[in-house]
Amino acid sequence: MLDNKMAWPVGVPGHSMADIRTLAMRSLFDRLEGLCEGAVAVDMDARVVWINDKYARKVGLRGADQALGRPVEEIIPDSRLREVAGSGKPIAIDIMSLGDEHVVVTRMPLSDDGGAPVGAIGFVLYDKVEGLRPVMAKVQQLQTRLRAAERALAESRRARYSLASFLGVSAPALEIKRQARRAAQLDATVLLQGETGTGKELLAHAIHQVSPRIDRSFVSVNAAAVPESLLEAELFGAAPGAYTGADRRGREGKFKLADGGTLFLDEVGDMPLALQPKLLRVLQEQEIEPLGANRLIRLDVRVIAASSFDLEQRVAEGRFRADLYYRLNVLTLRLPPLRDRPDDLPLLVERLLEDIGGRLGQTIEIDDEAIQALQHHDWPGNVRELRNTLERALLLCDGTQLTRAHVMAALPASASRQRAPAAAAPDETAAAPPSGMQPLHAAVQAAEREAIAVALQVHGGRKLAAARALGISRAALYQKLALHGLA
Ligand SMILES: Nc1ncnc2c1ncn2[C@@H]1O[C@H](COP(=O)(O)OP(=O)(O)OP(=O)(O)O)[C@@H](O)[C@H]1O
Ligand SMILES: [Mg+2]
Repeated sequence: MLDNKMAWPVGVPGHSMADIRTLAMRSLFDRLEGLCEGAVAVDMDARVVWINDKYARKVGLRGADQALGRPVEEIIPDSRLREVAGSGKPIAIDIMSLGDEHVVVTRMPLSDDGGAPVGAIGFVLYDKVEGLRPVMAKVQQLQTRLRAAERALAESRRARYSLASFLGVSAPALEIKRQARRAAQLDATVLLQGETGTGKELLAHAIHQVSPRIDRSFVSVNAAAVPESLLEAELFGAAPGAYTGADRRGREGKFKLADGGTLFLDEVGDMPLALQPKLLRVLQEQEIEPLGANRLIRLDVRVIAASSFDLEQRVAEGRFRADLYYRLNVLTLRLPPLRDRPDDLPLLVERLLEDIGGRLGQTIEIDDEAIQALQHHDWPGNVRELRNTLERALLLCDGTQLTRAHVMAALPASASRQRAPAAAAPDETAAAPPSGMQPLHAAVQAAEREAIAVALQVHGGRKLAAARALGISRAALYQKLALHGLA
């Protein structure tokens, strides 16, 4: 008797076993549908084949038929049914964001009678399902924390510099600041041209800061630092499933992140030719097409592009499209190299030393002879090189008083870059080899940092040349610069 109770009923009067299986499935399905806020099924291409009306209304549609045949992510952006259909593996329980709220979902693959995969089905569980309350409370709590972190991130995306941080009182410096102020108000595309280290990035931040977009994001992309194969998705975003392997859920591009604000497109001269028409279209139409999306998204982004190469020359070489160049070259600001504004050097030295000293918690002095020595150098790496030189000189001096000897020792040895004959550095100022033991990892890191700093100095801050000398790619150099705080 006991056995009979425990076992699956082998027969119910009037029903075959197959009937019962069908009935069981139907009643299970009905119950699940009743227990949940929504249900949706997709085919192997993740297109919606069925959605109940409750769910359709929840996601803002008038009825289920508006969803049929569309990629599920268009209706439910965070859906993972594509993944479930593809892998054949269920996701028994998960938390998904749906509009402003979070819901508990369960997803299962679907197969036909022969066991072949045909798609996937997902249920949004009703939030009164017992046991889910504590989970949802936790999610809500995490969500609050996430929002705070996102706010902090948005804050950090705000431009860091204002025009006052672009130092200089010489005529060329004042003129470039005047042009920047004007460009900020015009809301047009701006092109910043100038040698390495002349302050293009600093000025881009400053323009955003004095523009009406100040309260919106400032987003940067460096076309030279992102590997070519990833740049398109980085800029324009990718639709869910656009890649195999990579981010299946799609990603937002930098253009979208900058919507309403400013996109700083650094080293635009390094933009691959194949991507240039797409950039041109954004500038003309203010529309982007995410990779694999087949649809356009309207945007409101001001682009500030920068190049340390002469773009006109790149056009002549066939490496940059002329139409894109003309579109960028509407409001062009040419940043003066440091050697064209020697009068600014003392002010720059003073302010840079204030900044460097401030970080070290010290007051650093420099004598007039040292400043004169600096004025004789021609600064191919411009303000960045000046800053690096001062930092190096400081490492060579024991205290906080910089003299001519320290400065001379910190300048590159190559006399060809010195405009006046240089006095040899006295012995006592030569850099002493670091004494004492340090972990190998730290020693390797220090050696790498030093090698990079030297390569940059030797090549006047020109990154491509420095990367070549170091035997690494330009993108790898950018990564290392960021890692070592040299960027
Ligand atoms: N006019 C300036 N006033 C103060 N600091 C400056 C000025 N110009 C450049 N700098 C400083 O020099 C460094 C390099 O500046 P920035 O990164 O803006 O140069 P860049 O033109 O973008 O160079 P690159 O082409 O190599 O990227 C930064 O530390 C920046 O703060
Ligand atoms: Mg730059």
